[in-house]
Amino acid sequence: MDRILETKNLCKYYGSGENEVKAVRNANLEIQKGEFVAIVGKSGSGKSTLLHMLGGLDTPTSGKVLIRGKDIFSYKEDALARFRRRKIGFIFQSFNLVSSINVWENIVLPMGLDGRKADEEFVMDIVRTLGLEKKLQNLPNTLSGGQQQRVAIARALSSKPDILFADEPTGNLDSRTSDEVIGLLKMSVEKYGQN
Ligand SMILES: Nc1ncnc2c1ncn2[C@@H]1O[C@H](COP(=O)(O)OP(=O)(O)OP(=O)(O)O)[C@@H](O)[C@H]1O
Ligand SMILES: [Mg+2]
Repeated sequence: MDRILETKNLCKYYGSGENEVKAVRNANLEIQKGEFVAIVGKSGSGKSTLLHMLGGLDTPTSGKVLIRGKDIFSYKEDALARFRRRKIGFIFQSFNLVSSINVWENIVLPMGLDGRKADEEFVMDIVRTLGLEKKLQNLPNTLSGGQQQRVAIARALSSKPDILFADEPTGNLDSRTSDEVIGLLKMSVEKYGQN
């Protein structure tokens, strides 16, 4: 098997003494290329904390995250940022859209930051699949929660990342749209070899 992601005794503790919260405790996981994996657990059990570390967005208290065998926290900060922009897509639980620019600009922003031009046909394909074609000129605060979530999904898929992390990507969607989004994520794993 082709192992793309692995953690070794990954821990994230917040606070200290009586206030210490062990959000992630000794997580050891292995994900193979092409796998579609869901992390389940109740609210506050550490899912977002774990995902942020897997995506290099938050540093562990101890332990390692290996992507293709390479310890991602051994990169210098700017190298890690570049690696994230090129290889990793992240759909945040709270969307993280930029409020001052429109939907289209939000979707292509990560590629722009990386000095790449968007593959417009490919992006439009995703936009249509997610039903956002009439909202491209809108600012994020004029969209419903579910629409904002779909923009965040379009943004993550558009840069064709090797690995896609999605933190509750269907949390704000109705059940039909949720099924469609999960279908789209699965399709993107199959079609583009994302994980
Ligand atoms: N920045 C922080 N400082 C202190 N504690 C934090 C911080 N971020 C998260 N925590 C705590 O870590 C624990 C795990 O939080 P996390 O957001 O990872 O949970 P979750 O499983 O994603 O929950 P949900 O399903 O509600 O999104 C919680 O107890 C939370 O209060
Ligand atoms: Mg969460």
